[in-house]
Amino acid sequence: MSNPSADYNGPERVFSGVQPTGALHLGNYLGALKKFVALQESHDCIFCVVDLHAITIPQDPKTLADNTRKITAAFLAAGLDPKRAILFVQSAVKAHSELAWIFNCSARMGWLERMTQFKDKAGKDKERASVGLFDYPVLQAADILAYKATHVPVGEDQKQHLELSRDIAERFNRDYNAPRFFPLPEPLIKGPGARIMSLKDGTKKMSKSDASDLSRINLEDDADTIARKIKKARTDPEPIPHSPGELKGRDGAANLVGIYAALAEVSDQDVLDEYAGQGFGIFKSALTELLVQAITPIGEELTRVNADPAHIDAVLKDGAERANAIAAPIIDEVRQTIGFWGA
Ligand code: TYM
Repeated sequence: MSNPSADYNGPERVFSGVQPTGALHLGNYLGALKKFVALQESHDCIFCVVDLHAITIPQDPKTLADNTRKITAAFLAAGLDPKRAILFVQSAVKAHSELAWIFNCSARMGWLERMTQFKDKAGKDKERASVGLFDYPVLQAADILAYKATHVPVGEDQKQHLELSRDIAERFNRDYNAPRFFPLPEPLIKGPGARIMSLKDGTKKMSKSDASDLSRINLEDDADTIARKIKKARTDPEPIPHSPGELKGRDGAANLVGIYAALAEVSDQDVLDEYAGQGFGIFKSALTELLVQAITPIGEELTRVNADPAHIDAVLKDGAERANAIAAPIIDEVRQTIGFWGA
């Protein structure tokens, strides 16, 4: 991986987070978890269940605690090795909240007002949205920079937030006359799977919050459920085309080809070379098979891991200690840089 900021000379470190707000789906898997598991082989990785982000919209306390363990279990079931990578819960490491406040004073209102996710989530009545929802991307910058992380694997929907993290890092370095203090974190978005769309509507991203369960494949879905959802997935009456350019405007078809390519780790063109000229019947059967092979072992492992909450808690406790050991000295340096008393 390239150096994220030509003149930053600290170590390379990977950070990413997932919200504990419901069961994970194929988009989370292909856009994030699958990449995390690959990166742990080559990099120092820190992965976080972001419960502070979750409370930007109301949460039931018991459900939040359950979901936090469930997302941790999904990381483990997908193949994350907690001895190798650090896996922890955001609220267990105080650096995130402290640095978020400090960054609030570097970030500009205008930058946050441009964030499309806030506009989408707040809807028409933004006066009633929490301040936290508006401030969400600043906390995200703090998550990354509390560890001076240089690389951030995410799905396409997080691109704008990552750009903001770079702006905040740059602004902090300038405001406090501390060149190269924070790296400008680089998003790792490329590759198939960065933007998986709803199975019901190829113009909308696959999402935990979609009212229709038919819109997504959940990591917990069994083979029959996956088959039923793919059978019902929206396509069109045209045959499968010869080149990716011809998929333009055929959002449902393009999405299924992209999912196939991401799972088989080939290009869209490779998929089209195999299926061009055919209808979607045979293709959908092959896609179902690939999905069942990739997803159902994770679902089975998830059931096993979920049955042992004491193990999940032990992983999170160890992860929080290791995360804190990296973040605490960085926060001390930040405090000195700013001129806080006692630092
Ligand atoms: P979250 O919890 O919504 O999603 C977790 C990860 O899954 C990716 N993703 C997708 N990728 C492809 N296609 C989709 N349909 C799809 N839906 C979700 C997301 O891009 C993400 O990588 N704000 C973040 C969490 C966060 C974070 C961070 C990420 C908090 N702090 C610091 C990176 C670094 C979020 O809400 O992700």
